Amino acid sequence: MRHSTQTEHGKPIRLHDEADFAAMRLAGKLAAQTLDYITPFVKPGVSTGELDRLCEEFMRAGGGIPATIDYHGYKHATCISVNHVVTHGIPSFEKKLKVGDIVNIDVTPKLHGWHGDSSRTFKVGKVSIQAGRLVDVTYESMMVGINKVKPGATLGDVGAAIEAVARAAGYQSVRDFCGHGTGEVFHDTPQVIHYGKAGTGVVLEPGMFFTIEPMLNAGSFEVKVLGDGWTTVTKDHSLSAQFEHTLAVTQTGYEIFTLSELPTA
Ligand code: MF3
Ligand code: CO
Ligand code: CO
Repeated sequence: MRHSTQTEHGKPIRLHDEADFAAMRLAGKLAAQTLDYITPFVKPGVSTGELDRLCEEFMRAGGGIPATIDYHGYKHATCISVNHVVTHGIPSFEKKLKVGDIVNIDVTPKLHGWHGDSSRTFKVGKVSIQAGRLVDVTYESMMVGINKVKPGATLGDVGAAIEAVARAAGYQSVRDFCGHGTGEVFHDTPQVIHYGKAGTGVVLEPGMFFTIEPMLNAGSFEVKVLGDGWTTVTKDHSLSAQFEHTLAVTQTGYEIFTLSELPTA
């Protein structure tokens, strides 16, 4: 592990070596497998508490520790965010999914000290055309952002590309939460914002590890955090969707650590 000559708010940005890549492949794979595993359980009637319990069991069986437990006082193995909940939804055995919901499940297994951070938004049964489109466009925005990643490109290129996809569909990209450097540190430098101006910000270098995790709102980008200190909702109660991958900058482009091996996920 080395450091970039670039810093963010005075803090260095880590550059990782081949052994670090190998460790992240394993952590990322466990995150992807956890989301693959939970997929058939995401059905009307299941509680978000039960989905959390199943994800925790799976991560631990794979040798991982859910990194969110005791993270700044958070108590759960996952964040589960339904409909107008943007992010950091708290799993609950009282909260049951129903047909037409959209639900994001965000998992971060820590495996041998390395973090694999990934989330997907699932459609519960048949969803409205509007909700389905929001989910599909959000996924698309993440992939378009990821496709900008290569040495010499900037994080502004990534953010601008994501925001362009959101705007073209009539959506807004959330500004109050961002992606983040990761690796041995769960939330590290740099901040990865999901809007902005191409050609600005941190210049990407091989060996940087970070997440890209856009949250798109059907209405305004404005959000508020509820009294529990975690649950973040859209101010206008519009629907919100999110996807997240953990990736690396390589010599020629990027490597996604949290890709599913399933054909359809
Ligand atoms: N996994 C989330 C992320 O993408 C972080 C959740 S932190 C928690 O960065 F404490 F809310 F769980
Ligand atoms: Co993340
Ligand atoms: Co996450």
